[in-house]
Amino acid sequence: MAILGIDIGGSGIKGATVDVNTGELVSDRIRIPTPRPSKPKHVGSVVAEIVKRLNYQGIIGAGFPAVIKKGISYSAANVHKDWKGFNVEGLIHKATGCNAYVLNDADAAGLAEMRFGIGKEQSKGTVLFLTIGTGIGSAFFVNGQLMPNSELGHLKIRGKDAEHRASDAVRQIKDLSWKEWSKKFAEVLKTYEALFNPDLIILGGGISKKFDKYSKFIDIKTKIVPARLENLAGIIGAAMAAVENLE
Ligand code: BGC
Repeated sequence: MAILGIDIGGSGIKGATVDVNTGELVSDRIRIPTPRPSKPKHVGSVVAEIVKRLNYQGIIGAGFPAVIKKGISYSAANVHKDWKGFNVEGLIHKATGCNAYVLNDADAAGLAEMRFGIGKEQSKGTVLFLTIGTGIGSAFFVNGQLMPNSELGHLKIRGKDAEHRASDAVRQIKDLSWKEWSKKFAEVLKTYEALFNPDLIILGGGISKKFDKYSKFIDIKTKIVPARLENLAGIIGAAMAAVENLE
C-alpha cells in the first residue's frame, strides 16, 4: 500500500509515497523550500503542489514541527506564529481534498526509525530519539510505545532552551567547529540523561550522517547511535501514522 508522507520542516517541505509495509519510498522524494513567511495558506499550497506532482489520491500523513493534538497545532517555535491553534489536518484536507493525519515531526521520524531503522533492535526499555536540525525534536519510546509531544528541545538548560544552545542551526549560525558544538550538545544530552535515564539515544536529522565527526567528543554514559533512515524518517513515519490512524 503506497501512502503519501509529508515532512513539513522549518527549511523544506518534503514528500514521497511510501510502502508502509517495508518502509521504502515508492515515488521520487520531492522537496520544496518552506515558503517565507511560513503562513498556513502558503504551506497548504506547497502541500497541494506535492500532491499534484505525484498525481496522488488517498490519505496523507504529515509531520509538523509543533505540539499536535487531534490535528491542531498548539505551538509555533520555528514556524509562523499563525500556526498556533491552527487545524493543520483541516488545512491539508482543504488544500488537497485528501483526508490527512498530522503528528509532531520528531514523533513521525521516531516511529519510522523504531520500526524500520536502528530502533527495531531496541523494542524493550526506554529510547530517546532526537532530531537535530533547525530545532531539537524529540520522540520518547517506552517498550516501543511512543509518548507523543515530548518537546525536549524546549527544556531549559541554564535558563535557555536546549535547541537554542545546541541545534544544528546554532552550529551553522555561530560557525562552530564540531568540537565546539559537541561540548554544547553534550550538556544537553547529559541533562536529558540525568532526567530520563534512557537505555538508548538515537540521533536523527541532518547531523545523523556526520556522527563520526562529533561522537568522539560526547562522553555520556548512555549509548548513542546515529539514525539509519536519515532524512527520510519523517516522511516514512508520517505515512505509517496515517495508515494507523485513518484506516
Ligand atoms: C518544535 C518541535 C519540533 C522540533 C523539531 C521544535 O522547535 O517545538 O515541535 O519537533 O522543533 O522540528
